[in-house]
Amino acid sequence: MFDKIMKLSGAEGRSMELKLHKGTVGPEVVDISSLYREMGVFTYDPGFVSTASCQSAITYIDGDKGELWYRGYPIEQLAERASFLDVAYLLLYGDLPQQSQLAEFERIIRYHTMINETLKNFFNGFHYDAHPMAVMVGVVGSLSAFYHDSLDIHDPRHREVSAHRMIAKMPTIAAASYKHNVGEPFIYPRNDLDYCANFMNMMFATPCEEYAPDPLAVKAVNLLFILHADHEQNASTSTVRLAGSSQANPFACIASGIASLWGPAHGGANEAVLEMLQEIGDASNIDKYIARAKDKDDPFRLMGFGHRVYKNHDPRATIIRKVCHEVLDNMDAKDSPLLELALRLEEVAMQDEYFIERKLYPNVDFYSGIIYRALGIPNSMFTVMFAIARTVGWVAHWMEMMDDPQQRIGRPRQVYTGAGKREYVPLGQR
Ligand code: CMC
Repeated sequence: MFDKIMKLSGAEGRSMELKLHKGTVGPEVVDISSLYREMGVFTYDPGFVSTASCQSAITYIDGDKGELWYRGYPIEQLAERASFLDVAYLLLYGDLPQQSQLAEFERIIRYHTMINETLKNFFNGFHYDAHPMAVMVGVVGSLSAFYHDSLDIHDPRHREVSAHRMIAKMPTIAAASYKHNVGEPFIYPRNDLDYCANFMNMMFATPCEEYAPDPLAVKAVNLLFILHADHEQNASTSTVRLAGSSQANPFACIASGIASLWGPAHGGANEAVLEMLQEIGDASNIDKYIARAKDKDDPFRLMGFGHRVYKNHDPRATIIRKVCHEVLDNMDAKDSPLLELALRLEEVAMQDEYFIERKLYPNVDFYSGIIYRALGIPNSMFTVMFAIARTVGWVAHWMEMMDDPQQRIGRPRQVYTGAGKREYVPLGQR
């Protein structure tokens, strides 16, 4: 693994050898773990732009080529052919399941979809207009108060049961957060429906009326869930890993991931994109908003544009863009103008020097909200949809981390820029 050595020379004639770590693919990584011990210096890398925080065998991204693989499989192939639970199994266990393994996995997930009846009381503690992501953070965090029988993080079987529970219960909790918001009774999961259809049913059925999920809508949700399932060490996954590194319980770790995902620079962007498109309103206003995005004195950014890693294109956005047309052509076409506006905005931005120079392309969130809206899912639920899908990635990373013999508590260092040492001044003398 460490087949190369790099020599580092520091102040006062000090030097040390740094090992170069080579993954399966991707750039070499300098191992600086003994840097402070040997050289007495830290590294400084705000936002972890050049820093690998762990080893992982789950997801690979080549940002320059615009490639994304789950366990080696290109996202395009999975998006076209797999079911979400097929992908969930792949991310969790490392290989695509055999038919019998998938059937058993689906059965296990199906039989964990109900939530404890008393958990419903937590929803009622929230005001009706609470943002569903606020409800998600609270309710998912509270799961650790219910499922004591799977909380021994040192027991691999407990870890697996917790993982299954989270993947299974997330759609139930998500749909309940929506139902609470609109003041409708919660709908129980149905065992005759698959993962995505069951979620749609819990969202849109009422006790008064049967709901038959539209197969095209279910297919679109399946696809979006696959595209959002994992993205290696993004902010929320890193948050889950950091929380887990202190040996916190898995439900608490996933709740921390949900909190991190909510930010508009991360998963909250899909909601922000729709709000932005609605605010722009008409193609005649695009130039004004592009000018605002370029103005350094204006905090406005083109939401759904740019990515820390992708500097060519976001492969997920390419897939979603295509599906947008399919969904809008076949369903209620009321949101076509929004898609037209998005396409025009993309066209204008992609011809603008500012965006070209900085390699700012539409990301996964630029088009996902347009599809969700066409399916009748309200803006405030977009990031919740992201959270349901990403739970699989969070859980896979948490499981991988818990199995990693090199795992230690995450504890970054800092460059201290505060006051030098000074004497306490009693209140009367200040
Ligand atoms: N609109 C206008 N300017 C932008 C944008 C944007 N959306 N994104 C980046 N820039 C500019 C930024 O001002 C900076 O310019 P300069 O070099 O002149 O200072 C340059 O591009 C580099 O930006 P950065 O903020 O240093 O890049 P980053 O890697 O730290 O941030 C990002 C990545 C995704 C947070 C950022 O591009 C952004 O805020 N985008 C909008 C929010 C968004 O769509 N987020 C969803 C990300 S994809 C889903 C997910 O995985 O979470």
